[in-house]
Amino acid sequence: MSKITAAISAVGKYVPDYVLTNKELETYVDTNDEWITSRTGIKERRILKGEGLGTSYMAIKASEDLIKKRNLDPKEIDLVIVATATPDLPVACTAAYVASEIGAINAFGYDLEAACSSFLYGMSTATSYIESGRYKKVLLIGADKMSSIIDYADRATCIIFGDGAGAALFEPNTEGLGLQDEFLRSDGVGRDFLRIEAGGSVMPTTKETVAEKRHFVYQEGKTVFKYAVSNMADVAEKMLTRNNLTEQDIQWLVAHQANRRIIQATANRVGVSEEKVMMNIEKYGNTTSATLPLLLADYEKELKKGDNLIFAAFGGGFTWGAAYLKWAYNS
Ligand code: UT7
Repeated sequence: MSKITAAISAVGKYVPDYVLTNKELETYVDTNDEWITSRTGIKERRILKGEGLGTSYMAIKASEDLIKKRNLDPKEIDLVIVATATPDLPVACTAAYVASEIGAINAFGYDLEAACSSFLYGMSTATSYIESGRYKKVLLIGADKMSSIIDYADRATCIIFGDGAGAALFEPNTEGLGLQDEFLRSDGVGRDFLRIEAGGSVMPTTKETVAEKRHFVYQEGKTVFKYAVSNMADVAEKMLTRNNLTEQDIQWLVAHQANRRIIQATANRVGVSEEKVMMNIEKYGNTTSATLPLLLADYEKELKKGDNLIFAAFGGGFTWGAAYLKWAYNS
């Protein structure tokens, strides 16, 4: 019997309507459009406004987009995974709520958190369930409301992040398409350089932690940049060498959208030319768990069955990795 492979059979997306431009950020902090554009590639990002709207709101919308496009009966979904660093609530997983709201009444659901690598790690989890033969339809959603954990008085972070969600459905494939290989890594040294200090079990919330702004993202950008550039490029290159691929065999590089310069460094190492590099950082900034599925949704029409995609991500923890996937459909 041939091995079951797990392929992406549909994608969906949602980004909020509100556009936060570099110009508007100039009114909050000492920054300017030229600095942000040249250092990061970001021109604008989307922000979810509205009381009581959290990450699940965007995850549900992205799932509904996928369900509609694929003409899928949500009752057929076996599992819903929400990859996120900003769950609706600290306890009560977001995925269970999302599954119920989209009508996936036969599914179980849970969240997966590995900062900016959450969706990539989620791909590993989703494909493993399918390859095991136990489940047939796994919905993986990458969604983050980064605006809920960003200090808009901190120019080191507020220029980078945005809100959004993307979803991908994983199903068994009989033609050998889908996930071919992966290489995932982590290193706890990263905890000092990219984190939210308070609100967890080490430093529970108090009046002082709130007053001292310890519930916002802190990033030592230069250090994270250095680790991200070398690690993301290393693992992406590894995907090629250990699968005997040359840059000509690769149709698309799907890299986490944290900084245009990091993406370009990864592309250079792998040797792929600019037109093969998926890029939407200028529109959305860094949406953490949502960057990879948002890229897939934005480029879906250009993707062809059999295309070779190299995924790469790097994020807090540190967490990072790469994956090699064969695209399974023409849209
Ligand atoms: O997705 C998870 C992983 N995260 C990442 O991969 C992010 C990695 N890091 C980065 O993308 C970059 O480090 C940043 C975009 C965050 C910062 O860019 P940078 O080129 O590393 O800038 P820097 O922190 O080295 O700062 C350079 C200069 C400094 O001024 P001086 O000391 O040279 O006078 C900063 O004070 O730019 C200044 N600066 C700014 N100026 C205008 C820092 N932030 C800003 C700002 N606007 N927003």
